[in-house]
Amino acid sequence: MNERVLVLLPTYDERENLPRVVGRIRAAVPEADVLVLDDASPDGTGEVADGLARFDSSVHVLHRSGKAGLGAAYRAGFAWGLERGYDVLVEMDADGSHLPEQLPRLLHALADADVVLGSRWVAGGEVVNWPLHRQLLSRGGSAYTRWALGLRLRDATGGYRAYRAHVLEDLDLRSVTSQGYCFQIDLAWRALRAGCHVVEVPITFVERTLGVSKMSGDIVRESLVRVTRWAITERSGQLARIARGEPARARPGSAPRSRMLRLELDGAA
Ligand code: GDD
Ligand code: MN
Repeated sequence: MNERVLVLLPTYDERENLPRVVGRIRAAVPEADVLVLDDASPDGTGEVADGLARFDSSVHVLHRSGKAGLGAAYRAGFAWGLERGYDVLVEMDADGSHLPEQLPRLLHALADADVVLGSRWVAGGEVVNWPLHRQLLSRGGSAYTRWALGLRLRDATGGYRAYRAHVLEDLDLRSVTSQGYCFQIDLAWRALRAGCHVVEVPITFVERTLGVSKMSGDIVRESLVRVTRWAITERSGQLARIARGEPARARPGSAPRSRMLRLELDGAA
């Protein structure tokens, strides 16, 4: 592939995980560049990242002034990558949960899509060592999103994704205000509404062995409130269109089932 790929790694206190994951990305997809998005981690992850960047010119670091959430870190990272002309921007957790070895599968699927979501909850997807309460929260969150927004996605909250640059350019990222992991739902929802072709490919999500999750009650609440608000806005818009005698907008979905399955099978090969 001649396209320029940038892998974005948001970090907050990931000093032990970061060198491992960067090494694995560089080995699995040597042509891809890496951008670490560090929110001034108290544990010194930012300095670790600087050390990696000194040693490898494909590794870059964006130092941010303090913890401002996953969404803000990604927005800054996307802007950095778009300014520098990357064709594909990848989101990946820095804690080892997203296997760099599966990145070729996502990039392969992007040949036929605008956005590829790594999905734990499609056939062939799996989670390893993830506590039951997190599995329930993730499945429940996706189910609620499907119901409330009519999104036909199995894993709307996942954080292992590949976007074509034009999708992010068209989305007006400045208007995205989701702070936490809700950012993921927000972008999937916007991409689908913009008519993008979004596909899910199965991934193996492996719970971290080092460091701790930054998931919190506030992050869950933000998602619940925002998804509910978007659903109400969407439904009142639909009702207004029906009242005016206009056709209701089709429910945003992803690829037809047969195509998704084909991509899943291709990707799994
Ligand atoms: N820069 C920055 N700022 N990075 C952050 C922040 C932040 O405020 N919060 C979290 N991160 C980084 C972590 O350091 C890690 O690299 C990645 O974002 C994911 O954070 P985790 O805290 O490990 O997430 P998780 O394992 O609990 O959550 C997983 O499931 C969520 C729900 O499906 C991930 O896959 C998320 O992406 C996903 O939304
Ligand atoms: Mn994690």
